[in-house]
Amino acid sequence: MIADIQDNAAGVPVLGHTGISQGVLDVMGVLPRHLFVPESKRPHAYEGRPLPIGYGQTISQPYIVALMTDLLDLDGDETVLEVGTGSGYQAAVLASLARRTYTIEIVPQLAASAAERLAELGFDADIVSVRQGDGYHGWEEHAPFDGILVTAAASHIPPPLIRQLKPGGRMIIPVGAQFFVQELMMVEKDAEGRVTTRHLLPDRFVPLTSEG
Ligand SMILES: C[S@@+](CC[C@H](N)C(=O)[O-])C[C@H]1O[C@@H](n2cnc3c(N)ncnc32)[C@H](O)[C@@H]1O
Repeated sequence: MIADIQDNAAGVPVLGHTGISQGVLDVMGVLPRHLFVPESKRPHAYEGRPLPIGYGQTISQPYIVALMTDLLDLDGDETVLEVGTGSGYQAAVLASLARRTYTIEIVPQLAASAAERLAELGFDADIVSVRQGDGYHGWEEHAPFDGILVTAAASHIPPPLIRQLKPGGRMIIPVGAQFFVQELMMVEKDAEGRVTTRHLLPDRFVPLTSEG
């Protein structure tokens, strides 16, 4: 799986960089991805592709998890928000690299199973919190966030998420729900609160199912 991530990263320069930082690779190299997929999918857990997790949803391709995490450039002291918990795998990667991780999932059964799985794996409630709800609105009580990852595609960048980004923070989000073809985008807020957006690469995510 790690070799596949590195191959993908080598072939696609993002913001002029090829490659994924060693810290992200180390975390993904030890996290048991097979425990985040249904039993029938376990033989494929370390293949470089998304897999179904039920309710019409997927655990993202490992390369995309690595890339999105790497783009947040975490140094261990951040508070981060993920929209689209799914299996909890991306949240586990974030929780291994940031100080505090908050994650929101709209499908109640997925939110419950991800929370249980993360607790079983030793990600305590003071490290990662899972909430069921519509992540379009972010998680106001815990804002602002140093980093926000949205793992389902929105037709536009949700204004509540921009508001909940800390000055100096960044958000990685797939935008453009048409026919499952989107652009992965980076939204940055500078120290003065000015917001800029950059297109990173084309991608395919399941859609954000409720937007405001
Ligand atoms: C590609 S999957 C995410 C994979 C996940 N990050 C993982 O590591 O398994 C996208 C997830 O976003 C969820 N989702 C869709 N719309 C949402 C919304 N408005 N708020 C929160 N979650 C949403 C879906 O139910 C799905 O579980």
